[in-house]
Amino acid sequence: MKRLGVGVIGCGAISGNHFHALEKLDTAQLRAVCDIDPDKLQKAAQEQGVKGYADWRELISQRDIDAVHVCVPHYLHAQISIAALQAGKHVLCEKPLGVSLKEAQAMAQAAKDSGKSLTVCFQNRFNGASRRMKEIIDGGELGPIVGGSAFVCWNRGGAYYTDSPWRGKWATEGGSVLINQAIHTLDLMRWLSGGFELTAASMSAKRLADVIETEDTCDILFTNAQGGRFLLYCSNCGVSNMPVQLHLIFERGEMHMDGPRLTIKKPSGTLFEDYATETKVGKDYWGSGHGPFIADFYSRLQAGQPPFITPDDGMESTRLMEEAYLSSAQGRRRPE
Ligand SMILES: NC(=O)c1ccc[n+]([C@@H]2O[C@H](COP(=O)([O-])OP(=O)(O)OC[C@H]3O[C@@H](n4cnc5c(N)ncnc54)[C@H](O)[C@@H]3O)[C@@H](O)[C@H]2O)c1
Repeated sequence: MKRLGVGVIGCGAISGNHFHALEKLDTAQLRAVCDIDPDKLQKAAQEQGVKGYADWRELISQRDIDAVHVCVPHYLHAQISIAALQAGKHVLCEKPLGVSLKEAQAMAQAAKDSGKSLTVCFQNRFNGASRRMKEIIDGGELGPIVGGSAFVCWNRGGAYYTDSPWRGKWATEGGSVLINQAIHTLDLMRWLSGGFELTAASMSAKRLADVIETEDTCDILFTNAQGGRFLLYCSNCGVSNMPVQLHLIFERGEMHMDGPRLTIKKPSGTLFEDYATETKVGKDYWGSGHGPFIADFYSRLQAGQPPFITPDDGMESTRLMEEAYLSSAQGRRRPE
């Protein structure tokens, strides 16, 4: 099997998770990195022992590059991903799939037109607890879903925003706690519940109003076609990064995820399961999914299969987020 050549565009905080994941693969090989910051570029190129490019356009024109990982600020995801797809490269884009539905749709269309794979990094679907929840739901023992709730209470202080000034701005981050942190939990709840529509959202900057333009706190109600209610609360005002909690209620049972721990109430009894021993590499963050997510993407490419997390998944999350931002603004639209 010929390894696929990979370029990582953006050598900031999350890039280490991509480098670590790629090191372990026999399906793909890191061949180039790119960053506009010369220090970050030099450090990444030296540490990874690969070629460095200051301009992503040059990287995507290289013949030995088959796929790129887009790890740059949100407002650049669509532009770089579309150009890479048009240049004949597969694209693994960090979340979100664009800062607006229009961008996400353009990215999905570019993938369709090029015949190349496009996926979005919702790696928490690959956490042991997430996979187990999906397996139980698909098994049908708990019956139809009735509703659920999710809590994401993390801590992001002023320096998190001032150190990477694209964060905290509508034009470059596209929002904050929802589009950057809670997007994973929104995707998980949507994936596990079978989907829902936005009912209403409220957002505010409770702690960082003098640092960011965007929201540090948000609550949303979604409703599915059967009238099931799904509540998402997220805030970057926590005192620490508390474990993400997700509670799903079914006609014949319940599941409660508390970080890596699961409580499963079935008609036959209650199970307690713990996935805390899964290995983590790179930036410390929720879950352990970058490794298995990236490995799965390249295994599927080698097998000629579409990605597990499709452009439709990315578009759906971006659509729901966009509706939430508009709902909260009560007619005060975000800048396009
Ligand atoms: N999946 C996850 O759990 C997870 C976690 C953290 C970040 N992320 C995502 O990863 C992406 C990057 O976030 P980060 O925290 O690493 O940000 P960061 O600010 O630390 O890094 C971004 C990097 O992109 C570089 N860059 C900016 N413009 C560029 C351009 N035109 N060409 C090349 N490089 C450019 C910057 O110099 C910087 O090094 C975002 O989409 C973010 O949401 C995902």
